[in-house]
Parts: sequence; structure tokens; C-alpha cells
Amino acid sequence: MTRVHDAVRRSSERLASAGSDAPVLEARILVEKALDRPRVWVYQHGEATLDRDQLRRLEGLVERRQDGEPLAYILGSREFYGRTFQVDPRVLVPRQDTETLVVLALAFTREVGMVCSRPGDDRPLRIVDVGTGSGILGISMALELPAARVVLSDRSPEALAVARLNCQQHGVGRRVSLVQGDLLSWMAGPVDLIVANLPYVPSQEIDRLQPEVRREPRVALDGGPDGLDLYRRLFAEAPALLDARGAIFVEIGEAQGVAAGGLAREHFPGSRVAVHPDLEGRDRVVAVTPRRE
Ligand SMILES: C[S@@+](CC[C@H](N)C(=O)[O-])C[C@H]1O[C@@H](n2cnc3c(N)ncnc32)[C@H](O)[C@@H]1O
Repeated sequence: MTRVHDAVRRSSERLASAGSDAPVLEARILVEKALDRPRVWVYQHGEATLDRDQLRRLEGLVERRQDGEPLAYILGSREFYGRTFQVDPRVLVPRQDTETLVVLALAFTREVGMVCSRPGDDRPLRIVDVGTGSGILGISMALELPAARVVLSDRSPEALAVARLNCQQHGVGRRVSLVQGDLLSWMAGPVDLIVANLPYVPSQEIDRLQPEVRREPRVALDGGPDGLDLYRRLFAEAPALLDARGAIFVEIGEAQGVAAGGLAREHFPGSRVAVHPDLEGRDRVVAVTPRRE
């Protein structure tokens, strides 16, 4: 007979020896998944026993994790900006650091009064999330700005299928549309806000990433020789499409602040370009906003 607390202990020992950074937490989450129980159920039910089917399920989950599969893929979901999003191997696992971009972009819309439409304008705020993956950025913006119209775009149809599931889950269907395409090549008209977390890992570094990260789609990681190929192209395409009062917020790697900020300045000489840190103080977001009078 295996009790819940024994199952957590044994699973955590196996996860620890497989190199997990948080073996007890992960073991608890996997036990809850195997038993189909809500989060923190384990704390109140340590003496409960697992039946044979539950043990078999747990065994399968722990093996997948030991084998380096990201926890989010095993669970099928990840929290982002206070909400749950579906994820699977077709998309990048959302990172907490990416919340920095949402915070900054929302602060900008508030600062310049973009929350609804602008004075004298009766059209909604137009936002594009380029390289949307699971849709976390665009859907979070749509939920925080109920008057906005958002386009989620990605070159990967597989990723867009996951984004579509998340649109349904969060009930943003009417205000959010999906477009398959390369960066902004599909766009005709002006846009108020571009948000993007495009691939920015330098190609030669991909093989040195943790095995877990290498399970994520290469198209979501590979940013070319210096990691900035996609942003070089995005910054070149964006000036023709961005409203004069519009802004761009993109996520970058911690070592790319100077180079990515320089690229943005080249293409937006009349705008304010700032590099913002994440909560750990590492360069994380390049913001291009209109210069104040
Ligand atoms: C780093 S992932 C980010 C996903 C999501 N925005 C997030 O923050 O979790 C980058 C995404 O960009 C997409 N992508 C890569 N190259 C692209 C391109 N040329 N045009 C549009 N999307 C692209 C990938 O398919 C992937 O979904």
C-alpha cells in the first residue's frame, strides 16, 4: 500500500537524481496530476493511499519528467500573468520573465490613455502579437484591455492551433484573430502596439541549452548567428506599419540589450528606445515609444 506522502518522497528522490531543481514541488504536482486532484490537495491528504492505476499513472509521469520532458508539457498547461494557458510540444513553454513585457506594454497604454480608443477616435486599440506561440502575450493584453482588437500571428500553423485553443479557453474569440505568416509581411494597415517574443537564442548556443529546453520547437528558439535575425527584420518592417503614436515592446536575451537597443534606434531614429530589466535585473525588453514633446 503506497500512501500519498510516500509517493511524493519516492518520486522526489527520483526527480532529484535526474537533476530536477525543485524535486519535491514537482513530485507533489505529479502526484496531484496522477490522482487528478487540485493543486495543494497533497498537503491535506498525505495519508490517503494510491490504487494500482494511480500508481501506474504516477510512474509514467515521473518517467517522462526524468527523461527531461518539460513539466508544462506533462501537465498540458502553464500559468502566465495570473491565468492558465494550454501548452504542448508545438509551442514554447511560457516563461515568467515574459510577464515583464506585459507589465511594460500595459503601463504604456495607461500612460498615453490608449486603454480604450484615443480622444477623437472611435476605433479600438489595434495590437499585434508577433510570434505568438501559445498566445500568452496577445491574449493577456486582450483580457487586460477589453476594448482592444488583437491579432495573434505566427509562422507555425501548429503553434497557432494551440493559440486558438487558448483563445477559446479565455473567451476572447470575437476580439482576437489569428494569422499565419512571416513576421509582419501579411499586414496592410497601421497598428498601435506590436508585442513580440521572437526566437533570440544564437544558433550555435542551442545545442548547449539544457536538454529540457531543447525539447521545445527549434523555430521558437533559433534567432540566427547572433540571435537577433528576427528582430533585425521586425524592426526593418515595423516603421511602415506602426501608427505615429504607436509603440513596440519585444523580449530579448539578457546579453542583447545593447545590440537590440542599437537596432531599434537605427530603424526608429525619431522615437524613444529603452532597454528594461526583468525582476532579476537582467536586460529583458526593448521598448520603442513615441518621443515626448
Ligand atoms: C520564443 S517563441 C515565443 C512564443 C510566445 N510569444 C511566448 O512568449 O511564449 C517564438 C515564436 O515565434 C514564432 N516564429 C519564429 N519565426 C517566426 C517568423 N519568421 N514569423 C512569425 N513567427 C515566427 C515561433 O513559431 C514561436 O512560436
